[in-house]
Amino acid sequence: MPNNINALNKTFSLKVLAWFDLNGRKNLPWQLNKTPYNVWVSEIMLQQTQVKTVIPYYQAFMQRFPDVLSLANAPQDEVLHHWTGLGYYARARNLQKAAQVIRDQYQGIFPEDIEQLIALPGIGRSTAGAILSLACDQHQSILDGNVKRVLARYFAVEGWPSNKKVETQLWTYADNLTPSTRTGDYTQAMMDMGATLCTRSKPQCDSCPVHHECLAFVQGRQTELPHKKPKKTIPVRTTFMLIPMWQKQLLIYKRPPAGLWGGLWCFHEVEQQEQVAELASSLGFKDIQQQPLAAFRHTFSHFHLDIQPIVLHLKQQPMDRVMEETQMWYDLTEPQNVGLAAPTKKLFSTINTSF
Ligand code: ADE
Repeated sequence: MPNNINALNKTFSLKVLAWFDLNGRKNLPWQLNKTPYNVWVSEIMLQQTQVKTVIPYYQAFMQRFPDVLSLANAPQDEVLHHWTGLGYYARARNLQKAAQVIRDQYQGIFPEDIEQLIALPGIGRSTAGAILSLACDQHQSILDGNVKRVLARYFAVEGWPSNKKVETQLWTYADNLTPSTRTGDYTQAMMDMGATLCTRSKPQCDSCPVHHECLAFVQGRQTELPHKKPKKTIPVRTTFMLIPMWQKQLLIYKRPPAGLWGGLWCFHEVEQQEQVAELASSLGFKDIQQQPLAAFRHTFSHFHLDIQPIVLHLKQQPMDRVMEETQMWYDLTEPQNVGLAAPTKKLFSTINTSF
C-alpha cells in the first residue's frame, strides 16, 4: 500500500513538472538570480499582492537594497517609502527586522535552515519552504493560498483551508506530494497552477495536468471547493446620527486620530433615542424639528452598526462653530477634499438626492 501511494505521489509531481516545463513562469525578475535574499524579498512582496503589481516594486527595492546588509542598515523610513502603495506595511517592517537579526546573529549570511528561517519575523512555514526550495532546491514543501486551493480540490478536502485541522491535513498532503528532486521547479509549478489554472472562479480544468484524478473535478465540485471562511456572527450595535442642516450645509466633526473612523469626519452620535434631544441642545439646537431618515447598517469586521439618521432642520443660518478646527458646516454644493467616514459619505448622497 505505501508503495502504491508513493507511486501515485510520484505520478502527480511528474505531471506537474511536465506542465511546468511547458507552461510555468521562468523569467520573473526574482527567478533570474535566485538567491535566498532575492527570493525572500519577492515572496514577502507577493503575499496578498499580484505578480504584475510587485514587479516594479521589486526592481526598485533591489536596486536600493541589493543585499541583507543594505536593508538592515537603511533608515526605516526609506524601506517604508519603497513599500508605499504595496500596503500591509508590517511586511516591510518585519523584512527589515529580520535583516537586522541576520546581520546581528548570522554575520549577515542568510540562514538556510528551515527552523532558523521560521524564527525570523514575518517568515512562516510556507514562506520558509518557498525560499529554501526555490533558492536552494531543498526538499521543503509550501502551502500558500494557491496551493491550498489546488490540494483542497484535488483531494476534495472539506472545510475552510485555513482552519487549523484542515490546514494540518493539507500540510500532510503537501509534504507527501513534494518530490525530493526538482523541488524548486515543483514549488514554482504549484504556485503557477494555482494562480493561472486552478483559480477561485472559472478554473481551467481542461488545461490542468492532474484533472483526471482531481476529486473536485470528478465530482463536479470545483466551484464549491475549497469551502469559504465561515461567516462569524458578530454583535449588533445601534447609533443615532444627528444631522443639523441649513439649506445644503450639514454639521460634521473630525474624530480623534485613534479608534473607530480615526481622523475622519462624521456626524455627531448618541447611542440611545432619549439622548438625541440632549445632544441637539448641547450643540446649540433646541426645539428644532427632527426628521428621521431610513435606517441602514454599516458592518465592521467585528460588529454591525445599525444607524438611525435624524435630520435637524434649522430655521436660520447657523453662525457658530465655523471657526473650530474639528467642526465644519459641510456644503454639499461645494464638496471638500476631506476624509469622510463611509456612513457620512452615504448620508451626504442620500440628503443630496432627497432634499
Ligand atoms: N506568488 C508567490 N510566490 C510566487 C512566485 N515565486 N512566483 C509567482 N507568484 C508567486
